[in-house]
Amino acid sequence: MRWKLSFLVLFYLGSHCLQNCVGHTELPKLLLISFDGFRWDYLDKAKSFGRHTPNFDLLISNGVLATVKNTFITKTFPNHYTIATGLYEENHGVIANNMYDPVFKEVFTNQPEQSYEVKWWNNGTDAWLGEPIWFANERAGLSSPLKRRSGVYFWPGSEAPIGGHHITHVKTYKSSVPLAERMDQVVNWFQDEEAPINFGVLYYEEPDSAGHRIGPKNESIYDVIVDIDDHLGNMIKKLQSVGLFDNINIIVTSDHGMVEIVGIKYLSDYVNTSWFEYYGSSPVLNLLPKPGRLHDVYETLKKAAGSNLHVYLKEDIPAEYHYSYNRRIQPIVVSAPEGYDICINKSSCYTEKGNHGYNNSLTSMHPIFIGHGPAFKHGYKSASFDNVDIYPLMCALLNIEAPHNDGNMDHVKHLLVKLDNSSVTLLTYVIAIAFVATIAGVMMVAALRVQHYQRHRHHLLKTPPHMNSIFVHEQTDIEGQSHLLTSEDEEGH
Ligand SMILES: *[C@@H]1O[C@H](CO)[C@@H](O)[C@H](O)[C@H]1NC(C)=O
Ligand SMILES: *[C@@H]1O[C@H](CO)[C@@H](O)[C@H](O)[C@H]1NC(C)=O
Ligand SMILES: *[C@@H]1O[C@H](CO)[C@@H](O)[C@H](O)[C@H]1NC(C)=O
Ligand SMILES: *[C@@H]1O[C@H](CO)[C@@H](O)[C@H](O)[C@H]1NC(C)=O
Ligand SMILES: *[C@@H]1O[C@H](CO)[C@@H](O)[C@H](O)[C@H]1NC(C)=O
Ligand SMILES: [Zn+2]
Ligand SMILES: [Zn+2]
Repeated sequence: MRWKLSFLVLFYLGSHCLQNCVGHTELPKLLLISFDGFRWDYLDKAKSFGRHTPNFDLLISNGVLATVKNTFITKTFPNHYTIATGLYEENHGVIANNMYDPVFKEVFTNQPEQSYEVKWWNNGTDAWLGEPIWFANERAGLSSPLKRRSGVYFWPGSEAPIGGHHITHVKTYKSSVPLAERMDQVVNWFQDEEAPINFGVLYYEEPDSAGHRIGPKNESIYDVIVDIDDHLGNMIKKLQSVGLFDNINIIVTSDHGMVEIVGIKYLSDYVNTSWFEYYGSSPVLNLLPKPGRLHDVYETLKKAAGSNLHVYLKEDIPAEYHYSYNRRIQPIVVSAPEGYDICINKSSCYTEKGNHGYNNSLTSMHPIFIGHGPAFKHGYKSASFDNVDIYPLMCALLNIEAPHNDGNMDHVKHLLVKLDNSSVTLLTYVIAIAFVATIAGVMMVAALRVQHYQRHRHHLLKTPPHMNSIFVHEQTDIEGQSHLLTSEDEEGH
């Protein structure tokens, strides 16, 4: 019976290795980068203006390139938090860079201390169904021997300890930190001796700032793109020098695009502006009418503004915006047509050369998406997908189960060389089973040969046995086999 035992030991080793030698020696590594306001067509335009971006080109030619449809309103905090949670703005609750919560009776104005206040980042309730990706990654590692850690170098919401939990590495926002320093630190976190991360996140304010200041049509914007490309090149070199570049998946994306400003719409031209409070910033404002003024504000503004402005009652906001079901969205939402800014009146007006925030179906509002690494296809140009889909994609890349979200993995799985991680596991499993079966087969053949040899020897020495002695002989034969296997086992040590 010893050969059966050996078979079991072999099978155990096989399946043990399946779990530990193959699948789980190393955690999947992912680096998410956002360059704020990086319009989807900036790289092509840079080329047409004679600027070179060899490092973006390297990632694209060996990876995946796409345009992303972001979420309404196409502003910075709302869209970064959508990328981090896979939720529409009405579902994660960061519905503007500046917003009023009627339950808290407080205004979120993007103050440093508000970054730490959980209530702004959990949809205003402990019963929130969402979970930022940096927590999802760490939570998935709690039950496994390999600890999953996240490191975030700036991202809206990253400083808030949701569910009482702090991620391993997080930085207090400070816009003056140079891009090179952010990149160096995140790469170092992956190499950290005490607390290495498997998920790194990085945010940078450009080319958004330049886009506002000089407008996206000014050729100088491409000098900013070239500068970012240089930094990207240095980061790639650093990743290569520590042997990380070939086994890390990198996503470079953004929150929105940018459009040239061609005119200003003044609300004071259409309605008595003392009838409401307003929150948010051009080109989308949330209006909270003073008590009893809802009808006056809405009817007057809608009629007087005509096609100059889109004016919606909260309940009539087009379903395509997924921007209605949240208490922070005020009773009236006013949005300007593409290229126009909204001001309250002429004395209270600040505008720049470029802006964003408009209808998320406008291509000028769409950001870029680049995917590079072992999981991504090579030189693949994809059709556009929604930025809520980036969340389930990142969960798949991190090999964790995706928490509740509004995205759909089916919309992005074509970006990947393998369908998903379970097919990898399945393949490994099939190979391991085949291996074990082959070994078992070899052992059984060997066993039969020994049996045959023993029987043959009996045959030569004795007269043909009758039924009883066959039974006896077979028992002897099995004894012989186990002897053989035992001595082989011992030789092996
Ligand atoms: C473009 O931007 C540059 C500097 O960033 C500025 O000097 C120049 O005046 C701008 N050109 C136009 C046409 O606005
Ligand atoms: C605007 O409304 C306020 C309050 O109802 C009123 O006092 C003021 O006269 C109005 N202004 C104009 C220009 O109608
Ligand atoms: C966020 O809160 C709104 C109410 O303000 C609710 O309708 C929505 O379902 C919540 N989303 C999630 C994901 O919990
Ligand atoms: C313009 O709007 C600002 C902000 O609401 C307000 O404080 C100011 O009184 C307004 N000015 C005029 C001339 O109506
Ligand atoms: C948003 O823009 C798209 C494309 O121009 C247009 O078809 C759609 O009607 C717009 N939606 C709204 C609510 O204005
Ligand atoms: Zn932005
Ligand atoms: Zn901006």
